[in-house]
Amino acid sequence: MLLSVENLTKRYLSGSRQTTALDDVSFTLGKGETLGLAGVSGSGKSTLARVLLRLVPADTGKVHFEGEDWLTLSGASLRRRRARMQMVFQDVLAAFNPRATVGSVLDDPLRIHSGKRARDRKQDVATLLDRVGLPTGFADRSIREISGGQRQRVAIARAIATRPSLIVLDEAVSALDVSIRETILELLVELQQERGISYLFISHDLAVLRAVSHRIAVMDAGRIVETGAASQIIDRPQSPAARALIAAVPRLVTDAR
Ligand SMILES: Nc1ncnc2c1ncn2[C@@H]1O[C@H](COP(=O)(O)OP(=O)(O)O)[C@@H](O)[C@H]1O
Ligand SMILES: [Mg+2]
Repeated sequence: MLLSVENLTKRYLSGSRQTTALDDVSFTLGKGETLGLAGVSGSGKSTLARVLLRLVPADTGKVHFEGEDWLTLSGASLRRRRARMQMVFQDVLAAFNPRATVGSVLDDPLRIHSGKRARDRKQDVATLLDRVGLPTGFADRSIREISGGQRQRVAIARAIATRPSLIVLDEAVSALDVSIRETILELLVELQQERGISYLFISHDLAVLRAVSHRIAVMDAGRIVETGAASQIIDRPQSPAARALIAAVPRLVTDAR
């Protein structure tokens, strides 16, 4: 098992209000597998992503990732191991300095993790751009002067730069037009087949999850209320939360896979 999550709990306190964003969350993810994580806004999906990526601490629970007790790693060993778990967010402009060039955005992880010289990294940046279907000349463009779909390709290139075994994608295609979204999903599936990467693919949109997921877990109010094969969740949803998500995508049931 690549990733195993056991009984994660996370509460936020704002003033006197307490929100249980994660309530006893457990699941596993195999090598080369895509687990789709569905749920309405506020159900805890992004909190789960942030806890896994070590951006916020969990209150309780355990995570095993590549055989390590992931939440207790710290210092140099955490920095080194971070190369193995990468992320793609919805809003790339917010995640990167918009004035940064595409080349520098892609060089950052290589500089930190590859140990290669600048000249060799330049070649690696060109290879990465080529792999995600962007012209190598894009290295000199700034992040804000390229389109949303191109930016998402840059984010994917950055995520694969360190050869991770797991990529967490949080609403990574949600802001894109349908046609562009499809080409990005195809790229992700190709990369997975090529490299055996696992995806935790977060989306509120079950139509997107159906296109890429092997299994789907449904979150509601901080809990995973249902997990199963993607076809099972979509054709025979058991929980009210899954049924409500399906009702929100009218064409889902009749669409061909
Ligand atoms: N930094 C925070 N401070 C306080 N509450 C938060 C914070 N982040 C998220 N929450 C709350 O936790 C719950 C889960 O949020 P989130 O994980 O962003 O859900 P989702 O990604 O499914 O929309 C929501 O009720 C949200 O308001
Ligand atoms: Mg979210």
